Amino acid sequence: MKKIMLVFGTRPEAIKMCPLVNELKSRDCFQTIVCVTGQHRQMLDQVLKTFGVVPDYDLSVMKEKQTLFDITSSILMRIRAVLEEVRPEIVLVHGDTSTTFVTALACFYLQIPVGHVEAGLRTYDILNPYPEEFNRQAVGIISKYNFAPTKLAANNLIKEGKQRDTIFITGNTVIDAMRHTVEKNYSHPEIEWVSDKKLIFITAHRRENLGAPMHGMFRAIRRVLDEHPECKAVYPIHMNPIVRQAADEEFANCGQIHIIEPIEVFDCHNFEARCYLCLTDSGGIQEECPSYGRPVLVMRETTERPEGVEAGTLRLVGTSEDSIYRNFKELLENQEEYDKMAFACNPYGDGNACKRIADVLEYGNCIQWQQI
Ligand code: UD1
Ligand code: UDP
Repeated sequence: MKKIMLVFGTRPEAIKMCPLVNELKSRDCFQTIVCVTGQHRQMLDQVLKTFGVVPDYDLSVMKEKQTLFDITSSILMRIRAVLEEVRPEIVLVHGDTSTTFVTALACFYLQIPVGHVEAGLRTYDILNPYPEEFNRQAVGIISKYNFAPTKLAANNLIKEGKQRDTIFITGNTVIDAMRHTVEKNYSHPEIEWVSDKKLIFITAHRRENLGAPMHGMFRAIRRVLDEHPECKAVYPIHMNPIVRQAADEEFANCGQIHIIEPIEVFDCHNFEARCYLCLTDSGGIQEECPSYGRPVLVMRETTERPEGVEAGTLRLVGTSEDSIYRNFKELLENQEEYDKMAFACNPYGDGNACKRIADVLEYGNCIQWQQI
């Protein structure tokens, strides 16, 4: 039996890795071991519960207002013992978080092969997103298997000199996770609150946006809501206390927005599918919303997910108050502009990414699922 360890620690990694855990566990040829770093706590546990995944190891590193130094040093010191005890034949990490980077680094120190799920996303601006662009490039140097979600991501790796036979285009595992979430007759108290108004779905958390940019983002949204009583906004807020404080300050006494606790991924997908439009700085939501044909204003300076922008469903609006205000207002007031963005597309695969990754791990490098 091949010993495979999956390591993840934040909400989006869990959403995209749990379906893979379950696929690997369904195959007798693997001994599947799950180690969570606990970089997130409540938001991670919520996802583990949803997918019925029980970790074999939990490093429990999270502390409130943790810095990059805290996360990096805690994970590095704690994961060593787990890797030395288990000695997996391969370790799978996901995407671009600190958990991902530090785990790959520890594997490199112990010379354990790394498989990178969601490999090859790039902005080539090392400070945007911060520190994720560095994290994913660094993991790309170390990884032996590169599971790229799209051809574009695979081409980035090839341009960087990665060997073609280490790259597999699989689609994104988030599409696997989305297969059974959206329900026709879905209901939720917040959806009932919105009733026949336009649902504006909001999320925001990026580290590089904390402080002045995030205040500006929230002020822009507030100004548009004040001018548009036909809208009601729902914002499941990140657990980060710095984000919460900014939202409390900027949305104080605004009756048109409900700021709620993080919702389960099942609810999140149903909210996305029902919203009129979405404002976000999230990575994962940029992948999900295009499937539902819901316009997304991406409140970031760069995106590593240009597929949705090219398709027309995503618009990169930056982080300035003025730009977010103008773009949000335009989509509410100009039907033609709205209609141009409101159509479904799905550049991220067919929902079989986990099966493809598991096949590569089971049958070896000889399988090229899609030649580049
Ligand atoms: C992390 C990732 C980011 C990813 C995001 C997904 C890094 C450097 N950043 O950023 O790439 O997009 O997760 O959400 O890896 N907190 C809780 N409970 C939780 C989770 C967070 O209380 O379950 C609070 C803590 O006070 C913590 C803060 O949120 O200090 C920020 O969490 P952290 O993991 O450091 O950064 P994120 O912004 O979540
Ligand atoms: N999500 C969720 N509940 C929420 C907000 C988001 O389940 O309250 C899901 C969302 O559907 C997506 C993922 O979390 O799959 C995105 O996570 P996040 O924005 O925290 O991180 P990023 O994708 O930016 O790394």
